[in-house]
Amino acid sequence: MQDPLPKKAFIKTYGCQMNVYDSDRMRDVLAPLGYGEAASAEEADLVILNTCHIREKAADKVFSELGKLRDLKVKRAGEGRVMEIAVAGCVGQAEGSEITRRNKAVDLVMGPQTYHMLPELLAKRRSTGLAQIETELAVDDKFKDLANNKQPLTRGVAAFLTIQEGCDKFCSFCVVPYTRGAEFSRPVEQVLTEARKLADAGVREITLLGQNVNAYRGLDAAGQISSLPQLLTKLSSIAGIVRLRYTTSHPRDMTEELIEAHATNSKLMPYLHLPVQSGSDRIVKLMNRGHSVADYLKTIEKMKKTRPDMAISGDFIVGYPGETDQDFEDTLEIVREVGYASAYSFKYSQRPGTPAADRPNQVPDAIKTERLYRLQALLNEQTQKFNMACLGKTMPVLLEKPGRQKGQMIGRSPWLQSVHLNLENAAPGRLVDVQIIAVGTNSISGHYQSDSFEGDHIV
Ligand code: 5AD
Ligand code: SF4
Repeated sequence: MQDPLPKKAFIKTYGCQMNVYDSDRMRDVLAPLGYGEAASAEEADLVILNTCHIREKAADKVFSELGKLRDLKVKRAGEGRVMEIAVAGCVGQAEGSEITRRNKAVDLVMGPQTYHMLPELLAKRRSTGLAQIETELAVDDKFKDLANNKQPLTRGVAAFLTIQEGCDKFCSFCVVPYTRGAEFSRPVEQVLTEARKLADAGVREITLLGQNVNAYRGLDAAGQISSLPQLLTKLSSIAGIVRLRYTTSHPRDMTEELIEAHATNSKLMPYLHLPVQSGSDRIVKLMNRGHSVADYLKTIEKMKKTRPDMAISGDFIVGYPGETDQDFEDTLEIVREVGYASAYSFKYSQRPGTPAADRPNQVPDAIKTERLYRLQALLNEQTQKFNMACLGKTMPVLLEKPGRQKGQMIGRSPWLQSVHLNLENAAPGRLVDVQIIAVGTNSISGHYQSDSFEGDHIV
């Protein structure tokens, strides 16, 4: 019997920004099948968990969530409605049929390169009655198919655009080279077409995504390799796009040309996410990062020379196997030396199949907890200091959405801070100069000064 109600899908996203992007692309693929967006799993006909496998905790969450969804599926069946469940993303890739073995309510398991196959997999599931598992790693097809989608895009003011996927670096702690496969760069024209589509949909700020985004080597129309700075130059000429960002960068691929782009490309924001993971040369070497702590510091120094208002963010792992008290002190030291605007820090998590997981000298959890606590206290202090330094300054803010109070707007600073201000009848997408007058825990706030004349969004 035909279902009389319109169908709704609920996509829950875990992990990195690339998953946020992929979830949007899944929405694009589902729209022509008649799926609208559900506000929660309770009201959805299709629930997709877009998962993350980077740390044990993230992966465990998926299995507990699937337990809850199984109960919901049974409840809905009692009401005469079907609920389909899909596991997408890196847990899907890594665990495959183990997921359907552990939870019989799961209908589909997909790896991160197979979202374009969603309609086909749903149809197969329905016609055969068998759970479908698709974990091919051919990244090229995914983008080709997604690029052919004629649906208009619906995005906010700031959007992600994946230009590179996968990783060949094989850091000894990391599952990404196994779950996302080898490094792959999307062709230049495909990226430009998608960026123009985003601009047409009202997007003003694009963040280019890649596991190693600065290792981008996409082919242009003439078959020549384009580097990330070359691609950024092309993107900056798209009308409507006023800001460009890119993440995540690897210190090994921070070329002079890319550093220089921060001085010459006015749409490129003065903010760089450049993980170092540890401040100890011994640990960085064991991690197979392929650079020294001094190399990293030299890159930061060059960056700040090129663009004095450059802010740096990073990722850190504490308790890597064999990390001593002195190694950890070295991490605190590099943090003090760099002065991060913001940073993510994690306890090392043993990932099956990665070289570090088998090392004998694992650090006890209590020590990891204590180190993480100390590191985060220092990093929070630095973020606060960075925000406090903005007091009194006037900065361009890209308005994204209305705030909770009447007349309030929320936007972003060039340094990714959330900025609150009062501005009646302001449309998202407007770029305005704001003088900062207060610093909160997760945001800063200020007074509207004037519209900014940066970029070409003002007609
Ligand atoms: N344990 C803890 N953190 C990890 N990361 C990657 N793998 C692990 C792991 N096994 C962190 C790194 C990386 C970020 C995305 O996640 O800091 O930069
Ligand atoms: Fe993982 Fe290292 Fe590749 Fe980043 S560079 S995705 S941390 S292996």
